[in-house]
Amino acid sequence: MSITYKDAAGIEGMRTAGRLAAEVLDHLTPFIKPGITTREIDQLAAEYMKKQGTLSATLGYQPAGYPPYPASLCTSVNNVVCHGIPNEKPLKKGDIVNVDVTVIKDGWYGDTSRMFLVGEASIAAKRLVQITYEAMWHGIVQVKPGVRLGDIGWQIQKFAESNGFSVVREFCGHGIGRNFHEEPQVLHYGKPGTLEELKPGMTFTIEPMINAGRREVKEFGNDGWTIVTKDHSLSAQWEHTVLVTDTGYEVLTLSAGSPPPPAFVNK
Ligand code: MF3
Ligand code: CO
Ligand code: CO
Repeated sequence: MSITYKDAAGIEGMRTAGRLAAEVLDHLTPFIKPGITTREIDQLAAEYMKKQGTLSATLGYQPAGYPPYPASLCTSVNNVVCHGIPNEKPLKKGDIVNVDVTVIKDGWYGDTSRMFLVGEASIAAKRLVQITYEAMWHGIVQVKPGVRLGDIGWQIQKFAESNGFSVVREFCGHGIGRNFHEEPQVLHYGKPGTLEELKPGMTFTIEPMINAGRREVKEFGNDGWTIVTKDHSLSAQWEHTVLVTDTGYEVLTLSAGSPPPPAFVNK
C-alpha cells in the first residue's frame, strides 16, 4: 500500500470522522472518575458510537499476527503504553489513563486519544501527561508541505528527552484515510531532513508514547495486545489526526471538548 492523497471530498470525509472520534472522548470525559471500570467506559463509548452512526475501527480489528481486538476503544492505564484492553478493574484515584478512539464514518477513519487524570494525580504523573501533550504539538506544528517526517520525529524526541523522558520506538503514528493504518509510518524520533516529504492532502496521526523511565517496552500477559513499559515506569500518549494543507496543517480530531493547544502554538 502507498500514501493516499485526499481530494476535497476525502478531506470533508476525514473532517467528519475526526470530529466524531473526538466527540466520543468529549462524551466519556465526565465519567472518567475513581470507581469506573474501563469496561464501563468501553460500553459507554459503544452506545455513543451507535447514536452517532459511527463504527468502532478497533472492535474486531485484526492485523496479521494479532488476535481480533475485543473492544470499541483502547484504555491504557499507568505503565500500559498502548493497546490496553478494557477490563473489570475499577480506576482508582491517582491513575492516569489513555483512552484511544478510532471511528469509521462513511468509510473514513478518525483516530484520536487523550490522557485523563483519575481524581488527583501526582506531580510526576501530571508532568509526564503535560510534557507528552506538548511533545505531540511540537510535532504537529512542524506539519507543512516540504517538511519531512524526520523533522517531526526529531522535534518530538528532542522535546521529550530534554525533559528527562524517553520515546517509545516500537509504535508510531500512521497514514489514515479509508484504512485504519496506511503508509507512511510517522516515527516519534528521528533525524531532521530525513524520510518522506509532506505534501498537501496527506492525512496521518501523530501519537507519541512517552515513558517516565526507560524507552523499552514488552508485551504484558497473553492477550496478544497489551504493551507495558519494561521498567514499570509510567507512560503517556496523546493522538491527533492531521491534514497537510497547502500552507501548513489542519488538526482533524478537534471538538468542543478538546484541550486547548499549548501556548507555543500560534494559530
Ligand atoms: N488507535 C490505535 C492507533 O492509534 C490503534 C489501536 S488498534 C487496537 O493506531 F486494535 F488495539 F485497537
Ligand atoms: Co489511536
Ligand atoms: Co493511531
